[in-house]
Amino acid sequence: MCGIIGYVGPRNATAVILNGLRRLEYRGYDSAGIAILGDNSIRVTRAVGKLSNLESRLRQAEDGPPPSVGIGHTRWATHGGVTEHNAHPHLNDAGTIAVIQNGIIENFIELKGELQAEGIRFRSETDTEVIPHLVDLYMKAGMPFARAAFAAIARLQGSNAVVMMSAQEPDKLIAARLGNAGGIVIGLNPDETFVASDVPGILDYTRDVIFLEDGEVAIAQAGQVSVYRLDGAPVNKQRHAIAWDPVSAEKGEYRHFMQKEIFEQARAVTDTLRGRVNFETGEVALESLELGTGGAEGIPARIHTVACGTSKHAGLIGKFLIERIARVPVEVDYGSEYRYRDPIIEPGLAVLGITQSGETADTLAAMSLGKARGARVWAIVNAIGSQAERMAEGVIHMRAGPEIGVCSTKTFLTSIVDQYLLACALAQRANAQTVERSNADPFSLARDLAHLPGLIGQTLKPDPIYEALANRFHDRRHFLFLGRGINYPIALEGALKLKEISYIHAEGYPAGEMKHGPIALIDETMPVVCVAVRDGVYEKMISQIEQVKARGGIVIAIATEGDDFIRQKADYVINVPAAPELLTPVLTAIPMQRLAYEMATRLGCDVDQPRNLAKSVTVE
Ligand code: G6P
Repeated sequence: MCGIIGYVGPRNATAVILNGLRRLEYRGYDSAGIAILGDNSIRVTRAVGKLSNLESRLRQAEDGPPPSVGIGHTRWATHGGVTEHNAHPHLNDAGTIAVIQNGIIENFIELKGELQAEGIRFRSETDTEVIPHLVDLYMKAGMPFARAAFAAIARLQGSNAVVMMSAQEPDKLIAARLGNAGGIVIGLNPDETFVASDVPGILDYTRDVIFLEDGEVAIAQAGQVSVYRLDGAPVNKQRHAIAWDPVSAEKGEYRHFMQKEIFEQARAVTDTLRGRVNFETGEVALESLELGTGGAEGIPARIHTVACGTSKHAGLIGKFLIERIARVPVEVDYGSEYRYRDPIIEPGLAVLGITQSGETADTLAAMSLGKARGARVWAIVNAIGSQAERMAEGVIHMRAGPEIGVCSTKTFLTSIVDQYLLACALAQRANAQTVERSNADPFSLARDLAHLPGLIGQTLKPDPIYEALANRFHDRRHFLFLGRGINYPIALEGALKLKEISYIHAEGYPAGEMKHGPIALIDETMPVVCVAVRDGVYEKMISQIEQVKARGGIVIAIATEGDDFIRQKADYVINVPAAPELLTPVLTAIPMQRLAYEMATRLGCDVDQPRNLAKSVTVE
């Protein structure tokens, strides 16, 4: 998770920025850099590794009066390796515009090509470097800094947070938020302004903040800030006072950790992808799995996935992904069942534990059984240093950051993405013939991931439907969730979310099984949530919806944006953006989380600490 800090005001900007970056260190980074304004020119200092490396560089370079404007960044690589050249800030040719960015610029290859055709030479492999060159181009065409910045930002596709400064207009910083992969908070004091990716970066100086929403751009000057939409329309922003106690401060603009964790999923998934996919070639590198460099060597003959709760549902989606993409057979089991069913563990088997906490007793016992019987043991884990991580020979970290809400949200999405990466990596290593090989190979499937944070951001847009549904259905005692194919586990997860936090009984079912039992439950009081996106089983889902309607049930469909047909069939439609089929569960999971959250808060339930549940179940 990259960190961003910017400052305009009377203090020493370098000291404020370094302090802020230090406060954000816990989010992880591989290099850091800072740009400050002195003598009407921008001075950039960057260093690979820890902030102390940057600090010693800065001490060597120290001269002149302390700067009053600057921006700083801790980078965690997405595009290009961990080198000083790739560290932010990035500059235009003349060194008059400095830019830092969090997120993925989805159309950077096109933009880079366009700029190269203008004769511009790139000094880094990053996507970010297109921004200062674009701004420069627009300024050369006669636009003032702010207009050029708006024009450049409007060209970017994807979810990003961007902050920039210009030597020509040294009194201001421009900060923008596009989508949900990176937040921007602006802190204000009467004579100074702070810009940061995260609240903890500025809490030493101010508690008076505003948060940028998707598509907003701020022009920050000392002690004042103006916010606009990208089309230039001014926005009247509400100021928030950040509470002093550390727990409320960490929640920032959100009421609950679960809400915060739902809304930071674009960013969490961006972090999951960092450094693991070369978005130009589609090659996937998974640091600790030792899959070998080519051929089928190191590829397991089959995989047994073991997990509990939400992680088990992620495993079911992973089965679909790994079998479809890499053609490696996968069995998925509850940790608590696997350990007692005398599983068949043969040579070539890998046991894959999926666990947010890395401490779930049943999952650990299942992994250790696999290990004792000679299987290779892998883990997909969020908590660094956990037992699962220590037990496994190969680990793929979720990199979701701390998840405080008991009900898992962002670790569900990141563990699906980890398995998608695993599937692509296995297929690439084995050069497997996938069933989709004719129109998509594991390299292009991996390149699709560049769009994922942006798509997640779109799925998180404000939507009054959730409140409307909660108002209408919060008094129901039963819900049914149906899905099919790769979205069948999403029906299970939707039911689990609802029962965990709102205490409403809910069943998740594969849609095709409805006729073998659950159909008996359907009457005019029963809400049925159907995942019916435009995928290979769409028509089948429509026919299930018709069967529910024929029995008087109420259909809430999760459908692909622009699908007008389903509006004639369902009572309510929640939209998700169109996406490649294998990525759809990452998106359809989000309405399930938002619906459960809205229902539970409407009912006044404690969503962060639901009754009887624990975040980490360390006993059998
Ligand atoms: C508990 C939590 C669930 C979680 C499950 C597995 O039941 O309440 O949210 O999905 O444990 O946890 P793990 O840490 O192994 O993913």
